[in-house]
Amino acid sequence: MQQVSELFKEAMGRLAAGVTLVTTEIEGRPWGLTVSACCSVSMEPPLLLVSLLTKNASTEAIKKQRRFGVSLLASDQTAAAKAGAKAGAPKFFEEFVESDPIGKTYVVKDALAHVHCQVENVVEAGDHTIFIGLVEHVTAGDLKQPLLYFHRQFGSFTNELEQKEIVV
Ligand SMILES: Cc1cc2nc3c(=O)[nH]c(=O)nc-3n(C[C@H](O)[C@H](O)[C@H](O)COP(=O)(O)O)c2cc1C
Repeated sequence: MQQVSELFKEAMGRLAAGVTLVTTEIEGRPWGLTVSACCSVSMEPPLLLVSLLTKNASTEAIKKQRRFGVSLLASDQTAAAKAGAKAGAPKFFEEFVESDPIGKTYVVKDALAHVHCQVENVVEAGDHTIFIGLVEHVTAGDLKQPLLYFHRQFGSFTNELEQKEIVV
């Protein structure tokens, strides 16, 4: 019989998720970690959460710096998503970020949007650390198809996008 944890992993793989890059700074350089465990928590005040494996280098850096960025990826950004997900490898991100950090966090070039957060709360949960961030600044890029992750595969949204004005 399969273990609950294996079935849980399989089940969660069937929850289609948007893909983000959580950005931080390590050794004075931009660093990006691919993360799908990201969601908004509150609008007043604006809060967002990301859940990161506690033993990740990014987790340690964010705990120290008390801030992080979240770039929401478009479907043509699979290369950045793969670079930020390389297990056991450094994730220095000069190739993918704007040259200057805006609002003190690094922004992935051509992302759908970028959210700058100051750490408001840190919650340890199992082998992960949940960072609840107070949203300080938001930038929006062009509206393009989002990058999605489903059943361990990258893909995109197949519906035609209705162009609605984004007010940020
Ligand atoms: C689509 C996708 C989503 C991911 N989401 C998360 C996540 O929400 N939290 C997390 O800690 N790692 C997530 N990962 C794994 C990390 O990106 C990374 O591969 C892993 O932590 C290994 O990094 P390390 O070797 O630096 O520890 C995701 C990977 C992929 C491909």
